[in-house]
Amino acid sequence: MNPWFLKPESRQRLGYHVALLGGVALLTSAAIGVADHLTRADIAQRRLEDLQVTLQQVVPATHYDNDLVRDTVTVDDGDQLLVAYRARRGGQVQAVCYQVSAPGYGNTAMVIAIGIDRAGNLLGARVISHNETPGLGDKIESSKSDWILSFTGRSLNDPQPDQWAVKKDGGVFDQFTGATITPRAVVKAVKAGLEFFAAHRALLLDETAPGPIAGQPAPDRGNN
Ligand SMILES: Cc1cc2nc3c(=O)[nH]c(=O)nc-3n(C[C@H](O)[C@H](O)[C@H](O)COP(=O)(O)O)c2cc1C
Repeated sequence: MNPWFLKPESRQRLGYHVALLGGVALLTSAAIGVADHLTRADIAQRRLEDLQVTLQQVVPATHYDNDLVRDTVTVDDGDQLLVAYRARRGGQVQAVCYQVSAPGYGNTAMVIAIGIDRAGNLLGARVISHNETPGLGDKIESSKSDWILSFTGRSLNDPQPDQWAVKKDGGVFDQFTGATITPRAVVKAVKAGLEFFAAHRALLLDETAPGPIAGQPAPDRGNN
């Protein structure tokens, strides 16, 4: 005996189509929910690995014995909330790493990770995402050219602030042939990152934090 919904005459009813559509929608959303649940942990793990790779590129391992990924501080700069990762050795912050961004060619955001030591020197800079034109603006990638390495060792006073520019604008950093917009924007963003460090140095270096309160656990600093 056929159930009612398998009988040919049932297909003429409006309710049949409504129920069919509802059933398909229900199954689809259940499948999406299950897929989301199954992949969420994987995605979080991949993001964590990406973050670790980025941090390792801009902060040498000699600068820390803690778990950088877990040792963060969020700084409110008025315009934005910026998450900085602290590299500690022997409990003292030796360096910090955070992202800066700049509009590139076509006004799409370029995201750059920078590592800065406690004296305000750049340990490294790496472009972690961008939409610049292949063969023109993409030389900002470390895999395409060494250009991004020219920031290593620089600080707000090296070069002098007015020389923090591409050569075409009177500064010290190379531009690319036929592509000045991209490197100009990266130079500006890295300089802004150093200025951010200068403005929030004590907080970034954890020099404003009170000591642990007697009877209460010390704050989690990501030490191993
Ligand atoms: C299709 C196309 C894509 C371009 N992509 C870039 C780019 O990614 N980065 C860049 O700096 N310039 C790019 N340029 C060149 C810029 O328009 C500009 O001419 C160049 O950056 C020189 O800038 P300047 O006149 O300020 O020196 C591109 C030009 C064209 C036609």
